[in-house]
Amino acid sequence: MKMHKNLQLGGGSKRGKESKRNERVHSKTESPTSSGPKKVMQAVVVRGEGGGPETLQVQTVPRPIPKQDEVLVKVDYAGVNRPDIHQREDMLPPDDRRSHYLGLECSGSITEFGVGMSNEDKKAWKLGDKVCAITNGGSYAEYVAVPVGHLLPIPSSTNLQDAATFPQAACTVSSELFMKERLSLRMVSEEPGSRLSSGENQTLLIHGGSSGIGTFAIQMAKHQGVTVYVTAGSDEKLKVCEKLGADFCINYHKEEFEKEVLKKTAGKGVNVILDCLGDKYFLRNISCLSSGGWLVTIGPTCNTSVQDSYTFPSERHQVEACSLRNRTSEDKAEIVEEVKKHVWPAIEAGKVKAYENNIKPYPFKHAADAHKRMENGNFIGKILLSP
Ligand SMILES: NC(=O)c1ccc[n+]([C@@H]2O[C@H](COP(=O)([O-])OP(=O)(O)OC[C@H]3O[C@@H](n4cnc5c(N)ncnc54)[C@H](OP(=O)(O)O)[C@@H]3O)[C@@H](O)[C@H]2O)c1
Repeated sequence: MKMHKNLQLGGGSKRGKESKRNERVHSKTESPTSSGPKKVMQAVVVRGEGGGPETLQVQTVPRPIPKQDEVLVKVDYAGVNRPDIHQREDMLPPDDRRSHYLGLECSGSITEFGVGMSNEDKKAWKLGDKVCAITNGGSYAEYVAVPVGHLLPIPSSTNLQDAATFPQAACTVSSELFMKERLSLRMVSEEPGSRLSSGENQTLLIHGGSSGIGTFAIQMAKHQGVTVYVTAGSDEKLKVCEKLGADFCINYHKEEFEKEVLKKTAGKGVNVILDCLGDKYFLRNISCLSSGGWLVTIGPTCNTSVQDSYTFPSERHQVEACSLRNRTSEDKAEIVEEVKKHVWPAIEAGKVKAYENNIKPYPFKHAADAHKRMENGNFIGKILLSP
């Protein structure tokens, strides 16, 4: 049985000490320079031990200092992702590789290069460039330090607000569905051996089709010619999934998705399942997965105890639990590079779009409301914050 330690939800424990959380707020990456005036910014901070949305609060904190391979981005928009909620609840505590503030993606502009940055990196980006990026935490703030390799240009077909909805979804979806192996970064169309080969005979089931990840995954898979099945909890959400291109829409409150999938695939099951439920759906997912198919759990939505990723000894199915958030900065940079080459053109061409949900970005001071909304499930697509 192959084991990867990719997903550690539930592995973190309540530390029980407010001082520890405050210590983190003043961590090394976010400390001010010893000389010169103290540079500060506003950031959304988790108070005390963390817990409910009410623990989010805007505070004045030291501005991050970009390292040699980083730039400082002035944040215009930050995407809200489910792992932020787990971090707030203290189930996914940040480690020393990342900022201790919340936030895994943003859009904004480059305001500073890290001291000693290579000329090559400086050539690629200019001060003032508008960018979007995946971050090692910290985008719920006016400024965030971002590794140069995690930056993406704003596609010409879109704007700063829409661009903030892309980085996490594009990187998660392409790395987990369209790259052959974790880091052999070839997209479907070029690599017939990848998890999802291009073409109508390839089938994908997406749970949570109306989520930020789901709305992106539907469009990307349809762009690749894959037949898409989705589940969602309401007919209104399914209508949106259908509009985005989903071929078969299943309301999980009304139908048993595995039966529907088997019925529609003539008993074969689907090639790949993009799952966000973990152990809750494990056996049901397996029952509608085709021979040799992949079950990919990208971070459970519910508080579950999904184990580390593993592959069954039998070659019949492959099961993986994974998290973009926990990957190394180098891994993420390689994924971003592939996204730039293979996904960005689809966005530029208008084949993949940000779903217009008419939810106004929440100002930082209302971050708690944004989290409540995600927890209530009363949204489609992406929720954004703005300083
Ligand atoms: N790997 C990473 O680093 C990474 C980054 C971002 C997100 N994620 C993961 O990707 C998933 C989506 O995240 P998100 O931030 O886009 O939005 P989200 O709010 O976490 O989406 C959760 C989705 O789960 C669906 N769901 C809940 N119960 C369900 C059930 N019983 N059956 C089928 N679907 C059910 C919801 O559908 P309804 O609303 O229709 O009930 C909703 O669309 C989450 O699991 C998240 O942890 C992973």
